[in-house]
Amino acid sequence: MVDSTSRASFDAKRILAESQRAAPWITDARRALHQCPELMYQEFETSEIIRSRLDELGIAYRHPVATTGICAWVGRGEPCVALRADIDGLPITEDADVPFRSRNRGKMHACGHDAHAAMLLGAARLLKERESSLRGTVKLLFQPAEEGGAGGLRMCEEGVLRDPDVGRIFGMHVWPMLPTGTVGGRAGTFMAATGFFRITVAGKGGHAAMPHYAVDPVLAASHVVTSLQSIIAREIDPLASGVVSVTAVHGGDACNVIPESVTLRGTLRSLSSAGLHYLQQRVREIASSVAAAHRCQAEFAGIDTDYPAVVNESESWHAARQVAESLVGEPNVAEIPPVMGGEDFAFYTDRVPGCFLALGIHSAESGAVHSVHHPKFQVDERALPIGTALHVLLAARALDDLTA
Ligand code: NI
Repeated sequence: MVDSTSRASFDAKRILAESQRAAPWITDARRALHQCPELMYQEFETSEIIRSRLDELGIAYRHPVATTGICAWVGRGEPCVALRADIDGLPITEDADVPFRSRNRGKMHACGHDAHAAMLLGAARLLKERESSLRGTVKLLFQPAEEGGAGGLRMCEEGVLRDPDVGRIFGMHVWPMLPTGTVGGRAGTFMAATGFFRITVAGKGGHAAMPHYAVDPVLAASHVVTSLQSIIAREIDPLASGVVSVTAVHGGDACNVIPESVTLRGTLRSLSSAGLHYLQQRVREIASSVAAAHRCQAEFAGIDTDYPAVVNESESWHAARQVAESLVGEPNVAEIPPVMGGEDFAFYTDRVPGCFLALGIHSAESGAVHSVHHPKFQVDERALPIGTALHVLLAARALDDLTA
């Protein structure tokens, strides 16, 4: 039986109104976090700010998880659902015209993870206020190292999905391609499987005026870069998706010297792990063969941990869609195509059913017009209470569904 108190406590309009009332507190938390962006596994001050807010709310938590992460919980027993926010910043110098600009030189919350953490804190506050109406446990996961470092994997390995076992998990990302007041998502694959690589092309250095005494890795590496582009163009089904991007070329530092070696770096994307593995295998083979054709050796290596694709379980997406519609209205919830961006929320959806959502933050009037990872990136803060309300309602709905 879904008791009427539980239903009334989690009425969408009521939750949104309360979230709006909590908006100054949520915004304040977001700005505090925004001022101290920290990189992967160094989110010590960030973690402290989040824990002090949880302390203020009287919410229990486990810390440290994955070095700087936090697993908090509201409610008790099973079923259990999890809500996740990432907390790390990026190595970007902020150029956004905001009064609460980054105080950490060369670091910036340019992906909105400050907003993610603040919205989840807001949800913690609202959930705590109606803890007695919760039909189980809501875990609140504040996760480090999303921007590389596979913090989500570490959180899973350190047991955040167990005891009690998480039956469903939700997360969201601020989405500059969608206007404030809208929510997007889809069933199935939503974000790409992602890998980074390094190729070292080794030749033999020498005087640039006597190339025949040297083996030129610059020329070999140039052929490698262009040859790699044939994988997507000629080997991948045109109706499927893949990305091979070489993003860095380093080698040599004089006009008259042929260097010993050249290093290439880049990223590979596919909508499945199998697709990603295919790209990795072909990049390795092509690099090696093309380099050999130019009398060089190429060594391929992965950088960091690969991220699997984020796959939204269809039942979780359908529930999320209904919840979002009750919150922002049916015309403001859109099924959107997958993107080739990576997201380590995938480590959770690899293990338990769940859904990752896109929360609209685009607003010309508030200056929130730049893409994530841009030095002028901004969040329309009017989206914060919407994200908080969405978290709360997703958790309540999932607990209901898991109880039924
Ligand atoms: Ni992000």
